[in-house]
Amino acid sequence: MKKLPFSLVVLSLFSGLLSAQNPDPEVEKKAAELLQSMTIQEKIGQLCQVNGAYGGIPEELGKQVREGKAGSILNEVDTRTLNELQRIAVEESRLGIPLIFARDVIHGFRTILPIPLGQAATWNPELVERGAHIAAVEAASAGLHWTFAPMIDICRDPRWGRIAESLGEDPYLASELGVAMVRGFQGESLADKGAIAACAKHFVGYGAAEGGRDYNSANIPENELYNIYFPPFKACADAGVATFMPTFNDVNGVPASGNPFLFRKVLREDWGFNGFVVSDWESVRQLTVHGVAADNKEAARQATLAGIDMEMASTTYADHLMELVEQGAVPEAVVDEAVRNILRVKLQLGLFEHPYTDPSDFPALANDAHRAVAEQAALQSCVLLKNEGQALPLEAGKLQRLAVIGPLADDPYEQLGTWIFDGDPQHTVTPLAALRTALGDKASVQFVKALETSRTYNQSAFPDAVRAAREADAVILFLGEESILSGEAHSRAHLGLPGAQLELIKAVAETGKPIITVVMAGRPLALGPAQEYSDALLFAWHPGTMGGPAIARLLLGLESPSGKLPVTFPTTAGQIPMYYNHKNTGKPATEESYIHIDDIPVRAPQTSVGNTSYYLDAGYKPLFPFGFGLSYSQFEYRNLRVREPAVSPGDTLVVMVELANTGQYEAEEVAQLYIRDVVSSIARPVKELKGFQRIRLKAGESRTATFQLPAEHLAYYYPGKGWMAEPGQFEIFVGGDSDTGLKVSCEIR
Ligand code: GLC
Repeated sequence: MKKLPFSLVVLSLFSGLLSAQNPDPEVEKKAAELLQSMTIQEKIGQLCQVNGAYGGIPEELGKQVREGKAGSILNEVDTRTLNELQRIAVEESRLGIPLIFARDVIHGFRTILPIPLGQAATWNPELVERGAHIAAVEAASAGLHWTFAPMIDICRDPRWGRIAESLGEDPYLASELGVAMVRGFQGESLADKGAIAACAKHFVGYGAAEGGRDYNSANIPENELYNIYFPPFKACADAGVATFMPTFNDVNGVPASGNPFLFRKVLREDWGFNGFVVSDWESVRQLTVHGVAADNKEAARQATLAGIDMEMASTTYADHLMELVEQGAVPEAVVDEAVRNILRVKLQLGLFEHPYTDPSDFPALANDAHRAVAEQAALQSCVLLKNEGQALPLEAGKLQRLAVIGPLADDPYEQLGTWIFDGDPQHTVTPLAALRTALGDKASVQFVKALETSRTYNQSAFPDAVRAAREADAVILFLGEESILSGEAHSRAHLGLPGAQLELIKAVAETGKPIITVVMAGRPLALGPAQEYSDALLFAWHPGTMGGPAIARLLLGLESPSGKLPVTFPTTAGQIPMYYNHKNTGKPATEESYIHIDDIPVRAPQTSVGNTSYYLDAGYKPLFPFGFGLSYSQFEYRNLRVREPAVSPGDTLVVMVELANTGQYEAEEVAQLYIRDVVSSIARPVKELKGFQRIRLKAGESRTATFQLPAEHLAYYYPGKGWMAEPGQFEIFVGGDSDTGLKVSCEIR
């Protein structure tokens, strides 16, 4: 039985109290008074989160609430039921402590926004915040107080189904957008009407699951932990996120739900977090499955001592914590601290003053204003990956006959994506519907689904598709993944288009008509073959309720695509892991050094091939790099310069660049700023994103963009030394994606 250093536990309890961000004396006083009056049974009750009954209150659930044996309920969304459960807690339990109601509102409640990975492609924190705000208002109107979002796991592996819920591969982008979501969900004050508590999850390293296979071990060295996986969580903790959730995985061998380094040392002691930590679904009991706890009682002991305040779904706390406290295996002070953390958030939410919900106090679900935000998010999330011969935009005026083909052109459910528990397809506007509305009687639109689902192999409807294509002026294919193919526990080993979709593209391409392919998916796909047969390729993720109008506006040129990839698209799963902020290695591949497998001379001598870092059969470059995205217009970056060639710690590095729209369309560009520490005491990435700006320019217009970069942002975590910006030369890159070569040097003194 592992003994946890109590010093660590006591120290973190003490530091948590002292270093609580901006503690509200009134809240702390009320929490302390309540705690004083609670029995140990009532304290343990607050630490238990129970699954709802999806409408209605079974006798056992009502009894649990009445006896103060539940502090939270998740997955109940019927307002009447929620108000009745709350009435029992407030009016029939001894102390009347209100319940906190939770639900996964990941990218919308009824109005569904693009999946978070798609929202990340907007590179627009303000828009992402607005999306989280409308999700919060809709969730609060149903009676919910808390969502298990944002999911800010850094992910470099598209095989992992939950990459769909993530904000991509970069710590800076995920930090900026994760904080925007926290602001959107929580507002200025948790007590505000329409504000709900957010949850930074899954701490930490879920996206590093080995092999991209969900729930698998995550082995993360210290420098990667601090430089890649921690930053978004630290940013959300600093932004005041109310709760945290552990990952299911073992992190370097220690399952997160029993990991005091994460939740006592880093989260409480180092970061001063003073919200509360909820386990993941049965992740406490799973400590026995991981094989680190002999039984549920030991799992409960490890999890409470590790800093997991509330147990979701499993009942090891309810079943064993009393005994553990009586035996002295868990000090009551540890239970008190967990209860205090939970009471603090309930008090901050104003649940004691306003325990009940009246939906009429809120705007209607899926109202026009909310749908407008969802449409804007979908519009800015779409990434134009190819546009040969200006196949796009379609010119409505010249269009007589349009063929719309594919399983995802008109599927109100699939375009919503994963984790849409409370979405309703009846509100969805599909691309087919939007195109028909936009074109009206100006052009005929012929639709052939061609494949029943994205996984169908039956090609019997292909002749109809080919015929429609032959008769059309332009062909738009809507392909990709059904929503069930990404999300939790839905990892894929292969990244190609499922089913016979590639065969469909080939069949239609034989007509010689210009092929526009729109892909909806929850992850980067190996789109090389699809790209080969397509004149234009638009990646729409799962775009949500208003994906149709957004895509139609882009295809018809009413707006130019402006999305940029938040994650690298590999050519094949065999390239994974492939990400932009990689180290240079001692033998980086170059165009010169790379010999394709088909070009190797027969009996080539051993040392004549390779000697640099690449795959004989897959090269060393991704299909599309991080930050990539085309526009209908063209942008040029000129005259990159720094105001001062050298800065000292505490200074701000000012970087300026002229951005010119040299094309024919008004459009938005996301200018990205990367740094590189040329020589450092440990190998640093060849690029690190440190700034971005979304800039709208009319055709022919140019503007100087200025980036203000505090010298501290050039810092890096050095194992055993901590965060430092080592003196020396840095390169500053600015451009439209992570492949940019436009750079200027500056020096840290
Ligand atoms: C799930 C997920 C977590 C979610 C929780 C509640 O298993 O891992 O992200 O919030 O359970 O549904």
